[in-house]
Amino acid sequence: MTGSTLLALDLVAALVTAGAWVAAAVLARGAVLNRRRGAGLTLALVGVGTVGVIFQGVFTAQLAAHGWWFVQEKVFFALPLTVVAVVLLGLLALPDLLRVARGTSSTVDARSRAVLVGAAAAGLAGVVARVVIGYPLDPVPALVLSVLVLVSAGLAYAVFARRPRRVIAALAAFGVLVLVASVGVAWLGSAALPGALATTHVHATTDDTTPAEPAPTGPAPTPPAPTGTSVTSLRTPADAPGAVRSFDLTAAQQTVTLDSGRTVSAWTYGSLPGPKLRVTQGELVDVTLHNRDIEAGATIHWHGVDVPAGEDGVAGVTQDAVLPGESFRYRFAATDPGTYWYHTHQVSSDGVRRGLFGTLVVLPPNGVPESVDLTVPLHTLGGTVVLGDSDLATARAVPAGQSVRLRLINTDQVPHRFSLDGASFVVVAADGRDLTGGTAVTDRSVRIPAGGRIDLSLVVPPAGVRLSSNASATAVLSVSPTGAPVPATAPTPAEDLDLLGYGTPRQTDFPSEGGRVEATMVLDRSPRFLGAVPAYAYTVNGAVFPHIPSIEVSAGNRVRLTVANRGSETHPMHVHGHHVLVIEWDGIRSTGSPLWLDTFDVQPGEVWVVEFVADNPGIWMDHCHNLDHAAAGMMMALTYRGITSPFQQGGSHANQSE
Ligand code: C2O
Ligand code: CU
Repeated sequence: MTGSTLLALDLVAALVTAGAWVAAAVLARGAVLNRRRGAGLTLALVGVGTVGVIFQGVFTAQLAAHGWWFVQEKVFFALPLTVVAVVLLGLLALPDLLRVARGTSSTVDARSRAVLVGAAAAGLAGVVARVVIGYPLDPVPALVLSVLVLVSAGLAYAVFARRPRRVIAALAAFGVLVLVASVGVAWLGSAALPGALATTHVHATTDDTTPAEPAPTGPAPTPPAPTGTSVTSLRTPADAPGAVRSFDLTAAQQTVTLDSGRTVSAWTYGSLPGPKLRVTQGELVDVTLHNRDIEAGATIHWHGVDVPAGEDGVAGVTQDAVLPGESFRYRFAATDPGTYWYHTHQVSSDGVRRGLFGTLVVLPPNGVPESVDLTVPLHTLGGTVVLGDSDLATARAVPAGQSVRLRLINTDQVPHRFSLDGASFVVVAADGRDLTGGTAVTDRSVRIPAGGRIDLSLVVPPAGVRLSSNASATAVLSVSPTGAPVPATAPTPAEDLDLLGYGTPRQTDFPSEGGRVEATMVLDRSPRFLGAVPAYAYTVNGAVFPHIPSIEVSAGNRVRLTVANRGSETHPMHVHGHHVLVIEWDGIRSTGSPLWLDTFDVQPGEVWVVEFVADNPGIWMDHCHNLDHAAAGMMMALTYRGITSPFQQGGSHANQSE
């Protein structure tokens, strides 16, 4: 069974246990328990809950094979608690209930009833542990839950045994106090915005290639001197080599009339999509962003381009948001040929969706081998899908036998599947990095995560070829010798191309010195306070931005990142400033061409292992490119030791990365 199926089944089992035991506890309140039918029904409910516990154990054992991140709170908290409840039910409540059910007694005593209530609380605590605590199992909420379970049982006993009112009141007050205090502390913590991003806990491993920390010899070992380099100094020098390519982009509100005649009030960098930037490797890209009237502010982030940190365009981290009337100049060398895109990183969940994005292509010095080079972003604007520049079917005239490169870019929030009808294709690049040895593909779709890019190469057949996506039946692109639209002939391939096994492998040599760092990002969805507002948030390691401890690295480190998804939604994880090499996807090792990505889709229950070399000092965002998820917490930083940022979320520029 897949990880996500097991996660769902385990949750159902926990809910069955909690539901059955809560029902039994409700019966425990009344006289019905003293009658044969009532006692019998209660026994049945206790039994159902117990079967639920057994299933929880079975599913948890199977889930453990997928990774510890999926089971920690179950193994250390939920299961022990419910097993204790089963034992106490068996020892204390069962004999009483059996006697009444058989008619040999007519009272279930206060102690047995209290155990029923305690078991109900334990069952509920098991559910809360799964959906509220998650991973990692924080000891404080676990303790709070345990205390609340005990208080529930104690309170029930006090009520059923008719203890003095003040005892009951004191117990109830204590329980409420514990609950309110723990929620209050969580609320206060969320309201306190850390000045800098929360810093680190990562598990750094050393191996024989790591220079060992010198053992302290003197009485006072010197701590490493913080170098304190600001991201603002990590900019492209004004005299950087390369022919300068200058662009001016103005962010503005614009009413866009789509080809269908539909008008949309958009935010754009001058057009929708923004101006197509095409530069050549070795050139120096020099872009000045102006903001005419985007009140929320704007920036430009160069998605997939590993620019110097100060050029990365993240409001509140690498710069202040550019407010109306202001401007910001970005400069970076076009180092790596490939397909990229750019978008605002200020309130991006809103800004990108409304149209603050464009495409960037870096050509190799001698151009691409294909004779026609088309950049095809897919964007959903106000519910309408725009493929390339149009929300209608478009067609290009290209003579039969000529080769075409299609640079597919998913600028949406969710994955899209593209397919070609009429010709086979070769995947020549992913996320701006060439693939080696790709063979012709005919019966597969190409799945592109939100933010990802795939370059296809094809030869135009006499009857032409048609590019379509799952996003729209209308916005399709035909390439044909006559320039006429190509009708669909074949059904969309049901299967996606597996890029992990595509192309030919090549040895990747990581520098062998520099030390290793391992970090884990466990993705989930849980109730949390987002800046003091309660929300059903998206979490990394149980926390939300900006309270997620950063992954801290030193320049030269080889970083291994493990990303596990405990939730039920897909998270396209995007790493700024670096490309990562996919090592393993859900237990399957890469066997094809090395896959260097900047955005990878972590689907429910999946575990990805990726590696990269920390070779670009800065403070870099790692986040989900479903930007709504990022805005609801799923964003954190990868920080190089000694690099600081003078910017923060909020402030006079109302910085808000997502
Ligand atoms: Cu394309 Cu942090 O973004
Ligand atoms: Cu997400």
